[in-house]
Amino acid sequence: MASTEIDHLIGTANEADRIMEISEFNSDVSSTIHAVEDHAEAIFTWDYEKGSRPRLDTLYEKAKTSQWNAQTDLDWSIEVDLDEFANEPDPLEIAYYAESPESPLYGMSDENWREVGIESLKWSMSQFMHGEQGALVCTAKIVETVPWIDAKYYAATQVMDEARHVEVFAQYLDQKLDGGIYPCNTHLGLLLDDIVSDSRWDMTYLGMQIMVEGLALAAFGFMYQTTKEPLLKKLLRYVMSDEARHVAFGVLSLQEVYASFSSAEIRERQEFAFEAALRMRDRFMRQEIWEGLGVDVRKMVEYQLNEPPELKVFQQLLFSKIVPNCKKLGLLDAGDGWLRDRFTDIGVIQFEDWADTASEYEDLDEVAKDRTNV
Ligand SMILES: [Fe+2]
Ligand SMILES: [Fe+2]
Repeated sequence: MASTEIDHLIGTANEADRIMEISEFNSDVSSTIHAVEDHAEAIFTWDYEKGSRPRLDTLYEKAKTSQWNAQTDLDWSIEVDLDEFANEPDPLEIAYYAESPESPLYGMSDENWREVGIESLKWSMSQFMHGEQGALVCTAKIVETVPWIDAKYYAATQVMDEARHVEVFAQYLDQKLDGGIYPCNTHLGLLLDDIVSDSRWDMTYLGMQIMVEGLALAAFGFMYQTTKEPLLKKLLRYVMSDEARHVAFGVLSLQEVYASFSSAEIRERQEFAFEAALRMRDRFMRQEIWEGLGVDVRKMVEYQLNEPPELKVFQQLLFSKIVPNCKKLGLLDAGDGWLRDRFTDIGVIQFEDWADTASEYEDLDEVAKDRTNV
């Protein structure tokens, strides 16, 4: 990225105008496809020696035995009562958003607040689904572009995992959430386009396996802890088992690649990681919901940016996997700590010493646990 562009991004990280500049991603709502040029060569390798990268080989073997079937391992007969599980308002949120006269949502009735809860759920699940399709496409691209046979093997299992993930979120939205699908969020969509269109194969890993999937793993974990709905809980737990492997795949692969990179190349990766982090934070402004409810979107974005610290906990927790993994890859402190400074600016540096995800997948493997218990 040109230095003026990155300086602009740093200077406007917490400004509503920058976030509002990107107000629409799916401009053609009647189209069912979205095409992106992927600028990549398909790479064949003639070195078929399995296990020359032992940790990737271990991951591949693990993936083969941890496959689950969305149709037979989940109980789709469970009835979901939307009112019951979308209606658990946080008193701190109510005080800030519904009871404060400065809030664009001031005076909102309990009934409308419940609607916000239900719409937020549909919005979140929709964005998960779109993000999962992004992962499906990116990982298929990795199968083509990565030059190592162990990585091609592993990535092929991830393609299958991601197909299942898109499948379960689509089915849940269709059968349990009245088909309430939101279009791809503007910030998420642009991020996915950037990742897919970059020609460098390590950027696919950084954007998808480290940033998008790192955030997804944290977000699924948060929703898993807080929801009482049994089908969603089980579904998320299975998806998390897979996601932990996917993030490990990114960490293990990039550790090797980055070891040979120049400081200029590392700096480009740091900038890419920062831009991705900002886009992912911005997507949680949920612009599409406010637009749908007829709320002033710009005011709402500004009001959300000024949330008191106690309401920012969820936003920050979303980075609890990304920051330690960036540290493990050496991205945090390279170049005089450039990325450390950026993560400090957006208030997420406190996670740097949390567990990284290079081997967490073994603890999170729900499928293996279920089979042991049978
Ligand atoms: Fe996934
Ligand atoms: Fe994934």
